[in-house]
Amino acid sequence: MSLKELPAYARIALDVVGAEGCELLLADGARVLDLYGGHCVNTLGAGDEALGEALSRQWGALSFTTNLLDTESRDAFNAALAPLLPTGDWQIFCSNSGAEANENALKLALAATGREGVVCFEGAFHGRTAAAAAVTDPRTPGFPSAPFEVTRSPWGSLDGIDESTAACILEPIQSLAGVVEPPAGFLEALRAKCDETGAMLLFDEVQTANGRLGVPFAAQHFGVLPDVITTAKGAASGFPLGLTLAQEAAAERAPTNLFGSTFGGGPLAMVAATETAKRLSEPGFLEGVRAASAAFQECAGVGPVKAVRGAGLLLGLELTDGVTAKEVRDALLAQGVLVGTCWDPKIVRLSPSLTVTPAHAERLKGALANLEVSA
Ligand SMILES: Cc1ncc(COP(=O)(O)O)c(C=O)c1O
Repeated sequence: MSLKELPAYARIALDVVGAEGCELLLADGARVLDLYGGHCVNTLGAGDEALGEALSRQWGALSFTTNLLDTESRDAFNAALAPLLPTGDWQIFCSNSGAEANENALKLALAATGREGVVCFEGAFHGRTAAAAAVTDPRTPGFPSAPFEVTRSPWGSLDGIDESTAACILEPIQSLAGVVEPPAGFLEALRAKCDETGAMLLFDEVQTANGRLGVPFAAQHFGVLPDVITTAKGAASGFPLGLTLAQEAAAERAPTNLFGSTFGGGPLAMVAATETAKRLSEPGFLEGVRAASAAFQECAGVGPVKAVRGAGLLLGLELTDGVTAKEVRDALLAQGVLVGTCWDPKIVRLSPSLTVTPAHAERLKGALANLEVSA
């Protein structure tokens, strides 16, 4: 008998036995500054005490129950999230992952409009389930056929959006593609084109929400209001949760029996998400994200870093010619700093816990300045 994992990940050789805040603890006692943050997941940092206590209390009080029952934990989450939302009236559905949140958003748009076309963008990543994979760049293998008609447009283009389009889905900042920001005026133009054609605008904020850009949602950062926002990753600071948030006018056009999930919105996920939302609302928290962001942006010009792109704590370090992100990642790791890579071999990605400080940026700067891979 044997059991092996399917070959999903190229694992990084790091003997991690624990984590505290923004640091990983290694078996040999060393500490690694984690600027990858579980890929935008560890909003409050690893092992946050208040979050742990809230989970433990909830486990003792009501560990799980069916979604056929109302729970205090769900009500508390909705109350904590509502003040963070972009203006307007919203409806929410809870699932367990980013891909599911996007499946539900697409399903809502297709059902509400009665149309069959979806427009997405080259370089997009929306997940690995059938509908989410269909609108993801083919660099991530999907299914043999898409569950609806897909038009893939160049980033920044309005091509393909017409009266047959149910939805246009995009990441406000394309993360895996290389922390690629929207060209000036693009999101506004998309909003106008969707209004003109009756298509729904879907923001995949799986990474960009939950305070990541220094405000609760990218929709607020860019000042453009989509019909539907999805998020996951950092929404419950490490507890699995997917959220599909639809403006009421969009939500009311969909049939009532469209959604369902056994685990989605369960009590433990709800308390983790409530604690996360409360902390984002605390005075100074998002200011701290913006201050840390400004400090990390000062990496521009240090060592092999030519420029810094992105916003908040979703940043891409653009490398000088002759240096690859993988080389830089490995060399930084040798100095006790973990960063991310992406599809673009010239971009190192930072997506740390939102509790990082300017002092952590100094640590990265020091490590970058020391790099032997500097061109
Ligand atoms: C922008 C974006 N959308 C969707 C997903 C899918 O999320 P999950 O892995 O939770 O299904 C991801 C995951 O990396 C993502 O980055």
